[in-house]
Amino acid sequence: MLPSVMNPVLTEILRTRRVKSDRGFEHELNSEVSLEEGQRLQAAIRQCNATTTLEVGLCYGISTLFICQELADKPGARHIVMDPNQTRDFDRIGLSNLERAGYQHLLDFDERSSHVVLPQLESQGVQIDFAFVDGSHLFDYTLLEFFYLDRLLRVGGIIAFDDVFMPAVQKVCRFILANRQYTIFDCLPQGIGWRQNLKYELLNRACRVLPPLERFLKPEFQPLDIDLRPLSNARYLALKKEGIDSEETRSWNFYRDF
Ligand SMILES: C[S@@+](CC[C@H](N)C(=O)[O-])C[C@H]1O[C@@H](n2cnc3c(N)ncnc32)[C@H](O)[C@@H]1O
Repeated sequence: MLPSVMNPVLTEILRTRRVKSDRGFEHELNSEVSLEEGQRLQAAIRQCNATTTLEVGLCYGISTLFICQELADKPGARHIVMDPNQTRDFDRIGLSNLERAGYQHLLDFDERSSHVVLPQLESQGVQIDFAFVDGSHLFDYTLLEFFYLDRLLRVGGIIAFDDVFMPAVQKVCRFILANRQYTIFDCLPQGIGWRQNLKYELLNRACRVLPPLERFLKPEFQPLDIDLRPLSNARYLALKKEGIDSEETRSWNFYRDF
């Protein structure tokens, strides 16, 4: 059942699972965040009292509609979005959905890749309170996106990632939690990961009995002082920025395996 307070355009898309371009072409909805994930995005924005938010990857605009709905009543709110494929692959349907939903005034859209847009935002001195990463999903892009988003994000702000169960995205999240001042704010599992959990549990126990074993395990299976196990099965992960790294928190040779 869809909540009655949802924007009618979003409700209609989720109900029919169809999207339509301004030129009249219809497509089946795909690649979108679920209703539960959308609601968690909204809860994270509410929790950190965000007014300036940012998103990597527009597609048909489903997560953007959830985010904009949360921002709609906030004075001065702004949502920055980037996607190099909006015209080529998506017939500008994401932008059209946002206009029909009445959120155009909140939107600051750039049709270029994150690796071009994010450094420019930093050089303009933009500060953000919340970011959602659902773009290329490749390791190098995702890590680069985090690097710049962290520089834009205020302390106390939140960065959320989609598809964290994917090895490349998961690696980036593991790096952040092991090496940077972030904590888990929210984690949505994508299904039952009992096999993976059992594997972790058995290997962890074996390491406790026989500590030298650790040296032969991949970092994913080595016991860390932070519990990163939920990541292997996460659909969505939101991380809270707890502080700014300086030479006191990370010296030049600081590194924790992840
Ligand atoms: C999974 S879809 C996003 C779905 C969206 N969150 C939703 O709920 O509807 C991923 C999007 O990321 C975009 N993308 C891929 N590489 C990108 C990049 N380097 N910078 C920005 N967006 C990118 C793709 O064009 C695609 O539209």
